[in-house]
Amino acid sequence: MVQCTLVLAGIGVFMAVGGALLGWVVFPGAVHDKIIENTELRQGTPQFKRFEALPQPLDFKVFIFNVTNPYEVQMGKRPRVVEVGPYIYFQYRQKDNIRFSRDRSKVHFSQQQLYVFDAESSYPLTENDPLMVLNMHMNSILQIIDNQAKETITNFRSDVNNTLEKIPIVRVIKRIIEKTTPIQSILQIAEDETYDSLRLINVELNRIFGRPDSMFLRTTPKEFLFDGVPFCVNVIGIAKAICKEIEKRNTKTIRVLPDGSMKFSFFNHKNMTEDGIYTINTGVKNALETQMIEFWNGKNMLDKWSNSSRGSSMTCNKIEGTDGSGYPPFREGVQRMTIFSSDICRTVDIKYVGSSSYEGIPAARYVTDDNFLNKIGPEHNNDCYCVNRIPKAIVKANGCLYEGALDLSTCFGKCRSCGA
Ligand SMILES: *[C@@H]1O[C@H](CO)[C@@H](O)[C@H](O)[C@H]1NC(C)=O
Ligand SMILES: *[C@@H]1O[C@H](CO)[C@@H](O)[C@H](O)[C@H]1NC(C)=O
Ligand SMILES: *[C@@H]1O[C@H](CO)[C@@H](O)[C@H](O)[C@H]1NC(C)=O
Ligand SMILES: *[C@@H]1O[C@H](CO)[C@@H](O)[C@H](O)[C@H]1NC(C)=O
Repeated sequence: MVQCTLVLAGIGVFMAVGGALLGWVVFPGAVHDKIIENTELRQGTPQFKRFEALPQPLDFKVFIFNVTNPYEVQMGKRPRVVEVGPYIYFQYRQKDNIRFSRDRSKVHFSQQQLYVFDAESSYPLTENDPLMVLNMHMNSILQIIDNQAKETITNFRSDVNNTLEKIPIVRVIKRIIEKTTPIQSILQIAEDETYDSLRLINVELNRIFGRPDSMFLRTTPKEFLFDGVPFCVNVIGIAKAICKEIEKRNTKTIRVLPDGSMKFSFFNHKNMTEDGIYTINTGVKNALETQMIEFWNGKNMLDKWSNSSRGSSMTCNKIEGTDGSGYPPFREGVQRMTIFSSDICRTVDIKYVGSSSYEGIPAARYVTDDNFLNKIGPEHNNDCYCVNRIPKAIVKANGCLYEGALDLSTCFGKCRSCGA
């Protein structure tokens, strides 16, 4: 009897130990393997399908500063802006040209994004709301003209004697920007200048921008964000030469239509286009590396951010992290992650701020780190972001833009490193 009890006790202990083993070793092991199986990228798996085309669209939210007193600004008052939004778009992502490396540890692909306005989530805002916004393309083009008009016009009218050389365009354009006076009043300034030809230039500017009455633009989210604000329509002569100059700069936000006219929009260039070739880790060798970007257009460094500053250019130019649509498994206790965004030519660190849930599923919540837009400068060893390409931009004592602003001139400007 005693023996029997001992045996039972033994079985009890064995069961308990077995239970513990199953509970703590066997099952988590199986779960661990299952997680890896469901996250690593192998052809023909459900995860591969999710990778190929995200099963649900991401939300792409846009907020716009609406200027409520444009004419007062013309008179020298401060602009009053009201943030309107979010205008919400579905962002679908589809990968193409998927190609695995021989050992299956890397996968190459290109990716297309499709944007569709989400009227329901944006309600009561609509795509056709009236907006008064800064005339972005006109402002930046005036800056181009500041640097280049003399040359453009001189070349255009090379038959004319050097009177043109003396046209004080630069002075005048500076006045436009500084006083934000309407284009028409430039005609007045033009008349005050001694040179007749100046008049001509301002007429040309009106031709290019369709007689703007202020530095602001009346538009709608549909036009401003995607369809495009038309300019350089039916231009001839000097205006055409200036438009050609704009075209040569190959700016992402400006597209040239078949008839030679142009359109400015913030995001049209992202819709149904590819943003380069990615090479990412499939995670088959090390699950913790799943979806980590190894190369973008065959490179692991950009050349967009400045080299010369004390801040190591590595900080700004290095391509790393994921593209934000997938992450390696086993995120528990991961305090920081990195996302690479080709839109802004840089990586963004995100940090863990606590647990959360999404439709009942436990989740970890991450937010962008302060070094994204706020803590930038030599004291944070990332002044390579301070490229200082914006003429007359207001900078802090450390030579960088104020919190919340990032100079994307080198990112949006001429394609210096489009590689592929
Ligand atoms: C934007 O401001 C203008 C006034 O400048 C106003 O007419 C318009 O309704 C505003 N738009 C929105 C969406 O608030
Ligand atoms: C993006 O492009 C597609 C296809 O050309 C078009 O149907 C869609 O309306 C565009 N999205 C936006 C927001 O304009
Ligand atoms: C330029 O041409 C005009 C008219 O042909 C002439 O009056 C003027 O003296 C010329 N200027 C110079 C600097 O040659
Ligand atoms: C940055 O440094 C690299 C390597 O030293 C050099 O090849 C490149 O030309 C530099 N780029 C700029 C913009 O200075």
